[in-house]
Amino acid sequence: MQKLKIEGGYTLTGTINISGAKNSAVALIPAAILCDETATIFNVPNISDIDALNEILTYLGATVTRDGETMIIDSSKIINKEIPQGISKKLRASYYFMSALLGKYKKVEMYFPGGCSIGARPIDQTLKGFKALGATVIEEGDKYTIFADELKGGYVYLDMPSVGATINTILVAVKANGVTIIENAAKEPEIVNVATFLNNMGAKITGAGTSRIRIEGVDTLHRCMHEVIPDRIEAGTYIIAGALLGDKLKINNIIPEHVESLTSKLEEIGVEIEEGNDYLIITKRDKYKSTKIRTLGYPGFPTDLQQPITTLLTQCTGLSEIEETIYENRFQNVEFLNKMGADIRISDDKAFINGPSKLKGTNVVATDLRAGACLVLAGLVAEGITTIENVDHILRGYEQLIQKLTNVGAKIELV
Ligand code: EPU
Repeated sequence: MQKLKIEGGYTLTGTINISGAKNSAVALIPAAILCDETATIFNVPNISDIDALNEILTYLGATVTRDGETMIIDSSKIINKEIPQGISKKLRASYYFMSALLGKYKKVEMYFPGGCSIGARPIDQTLKGFKALGATVIEEGDKYTIFADELKGGYVYLDMPSVGATINTILVAVKANGVTIIENAAKEPEIVNVATFLNNMGAKITGAGTSRIRIEGVDTLHRCMHEVIPDRIEAGTYIIAGALLGDKLKINNIIPEHVESLTSKLEEIGVEIEEGNDYLIITKRDKYKSTKIRTLGYPGFPTDLQQPITTLLTQCTGLSEIEETIYENRFQNVEFLNKMGADIRISDDKAFINGPSKLKGTNVVATDLRAGACLVLAGLVAEGITTIENVDHILRGYEQLIQKLTNVGAKIELV
């Protein structure tokens, strides 16, 4: 089993180029099968979640060409067959095939998706969207058979602004007859990226990025080219690394507006940030103030950066507070931060971080993707050697993590 070994305490300086967004790419790739010709996607990150989606595409009979960060998907020869449990469960985003296949072929058979175990993560809102558009859903244990004689536009009010349910409903609605309205939709930039992709193919979607999305169904979707937006969570992780250890650390190829909830927090606690059109330059300061953070859907503070920023809060003076409002089980990193010397107490959906603490390297475990990112940051700032087990979780979501950190002065390797 591979482990990450990090020797902490090195200053980070130079440039980190941010890759395409995982959570956008993992939706764009299944969405590509709605295209009746070839879809070309640029800036696709080279991470294992993309390989897992590729496996599903190939299994279904699509032709996929990958050249560096460009992916060309030709779905003209797809055979719509059951997606086995083994590959359905490899990642959360496999369920974008549920909607893409339902939209295109009016039938899909697959299993409950996988993903990090950070909470129950039900899919009831996605199913509600499908039903509102005329589909019948048969559940047998973990298996779902979903079909419709005719998909008809409908009105969907989401109980909560779910990213997955918003995208899944869009992917069916683009091929339904008539108009669909999604109310209380999620507003994440990844949703805008997916809607733009579909509009480039000829779909008629307006309002993506707001809480009311209107989709007018179309019969065909034509050839298109599209680019994945920069990964705001990867960017945020390295911005936090800069706050911990940066000496003019440049985080390049980003959309600064997408990380504003993070940067405004960092400025509040005292981090030095210089902003350009598509980059930020971060320099560590010696003393930071404690703060309060509450995770929310975009444009609020992202739950995906909650665990990474906890590492920074261990270095702030005073009592910081984090409230996790999206997932019930996203504090599994805390046990390991405490093992490294942090002083964090959890009470229900809140974590109280008493700082500053001197972190010391030890053996820790990445229980999920962003817990892993949190521990990488802790390893970078800790005294001595940190080894992180279950590295696969981290490499699912961070392209060339070791290379990118090594390039700016970190001592990190796979052992
Ligand atoms: N929810 C339901 N029912 C549903 C859907 C969601 O109760 O049908 C609940 C969830 O349990 C959760 C909340 O609503 O409490 C938000 O879930 P959402 O559907 O927005 O999450 P997701 O689509 O499953 C995506 C990202 C997550 C990210 C969330 C932020 C992908 C593949 N995953 O998940 O990314 O945390 O949005 O809302 O896009 C990560 O990258 O580490 C990650 C977990």
